[in-house]
Amino acid sequence: MAFEKKILCIGAGYVGGPTMAVIAQKCPQYQVTVVDIDPVRIAEWNSDDLPIYEPGLSEIVKEVRGRNLFFKTDIGEGIRESDIIFVSVNTPTKDYGLGAGKAADLQYWEQTARQIFEFSESPKIIVEKSTLPVKTAQAMERILRSESNNTRFDVLSNPEFLSEGTAINDLQNPDRVLIGSMETESGLKARDTLVELYANWVPRERILTTNIWSSELSKLAANAFLAQRVSSINSISALCEKTDADITEVASAIGMDNRIGSKFLNASVGFGGSCFKKDIMNLVYLCRYYGLDEVADYWEHVVRINQYQQERFIFRILNAMFNTLSGKRICLLGFAFKANTGDTRESPAILIAKKLVEENAAVVISDPEALKNARADLKDVSGQIDYIKDPYEAVRGCHAIAVTTEWDLYRNLDFERIYQDMAKPAFVFDGRNILNHPKLFEIGFNVFPIGKPAMTHF
Ligand code: NAD
Ligand code: UGA
Repeated sequence: MAFEKKILCIGAGYVGGPTMAVIAQKCPQYQVTVVDIDPVRIAEWNSDDLPIYEPGLSEIVKEVRGRNLFFKTDIGEGIRESDIIFVSVNTPTKDYGLGAGKAADLQYWEQTARQIFEFSESPKIIVEKSTLPVKTAQAMERILRSESNNTRFDVLSNPEFLSEGTAINDLQNPDRVLIGSMETESGLKARDTLVELYANWVPRERILTTNIWSSELSKLAANAFLAQRVSSINSISALCEKTDADITEVASAIGMDNRIGSKFLNASVGFGGSCFKKDIMNLVYLCRYYGLDEVADYWEHVVRINQYQQERFIFRILNAMFNTLSGKRICLLGFAFKANTGDTRESPAILIAKKLVEENAAVVISDPEALKNARADLKDVSGQIDYIKDPYEAVRGCHAIAVTTEWDLYRNLDFERIYQDMAKPAFVFDGRNILNHPKLFEIGFNVFPIGKPAMTHF
């Protein structure tokens, strides 16, 4: 069958893979190809062992791979053949030169722009899927028009709002799809082509079109607002611990106000993930660039509170366990930055594990999906770290458990059995507030939730 359109995605990561799988599923009339510079990643996408864990993803990949979804390494051929190119490469924080620690590192993105320029022989619509600083589309257009070339390029911004762990549902039923375009005749025509693509499954009223700069900025702003809610509730959790207020009660009380809303008010050990910190620092950098220091300071504090929350958690463990962890065995239940993913990028568990090792504790790491990434994250740490998937085995002989990821499986563990197997006095530090604290206390544990009074037997 001849395909109606040929779509290419450059970057086969957490965004490129799932997004294209869902487009291929919803639009059988389009050919969807995903390319990457990393041949190992492409080989994994073509195998039964996908490079990322995401609920529901492997079923969709099995359904569409080889039908109208293809994973390939030949980027040049992919570019030549395609009508629409999504760019979904990584845009990490720069760790060198000007703007180090804040600005987005656009080297991968720029490489892609140059490759598109080099291999294109027919008109292309280029879609920015990666999260980028405002005004990036202008730079992309400049690269694509830097030499006289008969090829027509239209650049659109179409940021991705999926959350890991719920990516498939987020893609199949998005709150909104945002498409930003230049307000020129060809820009608007390109925008309509992308609207038509999404309209295959997304109701029209959820497809929002804006000018291209609003679209780029909305992505950074959305992540900043989400992260700000987590830092807000976490900052209040610190005050709860001093005043005997209970953060769960406070969160329900404020969340019942329709204007505030109840989502994203779970106090935690801090937010992780590859994007919140990176995108806020990017926003901070942009604000400073434009001389808006007060605005930059405001958003920078969201990240500072997040760092503080992680450090507070570590300090609480140290303090509760008589100010020494030397020779004690501590089990981290969970290493992923959130439940239902194997992703550990910026996971608070990384800092916690490192600090515990610095205190000469023996650390045991347990996680149903993230042990491979955990080993890679901690490969340079010298100290005793064991990786044990089974939670019952992991906690055996430990002095303390710290819950760092809210996996459902940890909610229903047999804590009587676990208590029997642990060294005494046994401690639980619930960094996600997912356990039944009064019950744990009754069993004999000393319990330290986030933002609630501790329950100890001393
Ligand atoms: P990722 O690191 O998982 O994937 C990026 C992929 O791009 C890698 O496989 C890398 O090899 C490939 N790549 C880099 N340069 C390339 C090039 N020149 N040619 C071909 N391939 C190249 O990153 P990700 O998590 O998928 O994020 C991608 C973008 O999407 C980022 O800008 C991120 O901020 C944004 N985003 C991520 C999420 C998320 O949940 N992870 C959600 C929304 C938006
Ligand atoms: C986040 C956004 O939710 C997505 O919309 C966005 O597309 C994505 O970033 C991105 O740009 O990468 P994600 O990082 O996958 O998605 O996961 P979230 O559910 O937002 O959680 C982020 C972190 O905040 C996790 O560590 C989570 O445990 C923490 N969190 C979240 C809390 O501590 N409390 C909450 O109430 C909610």
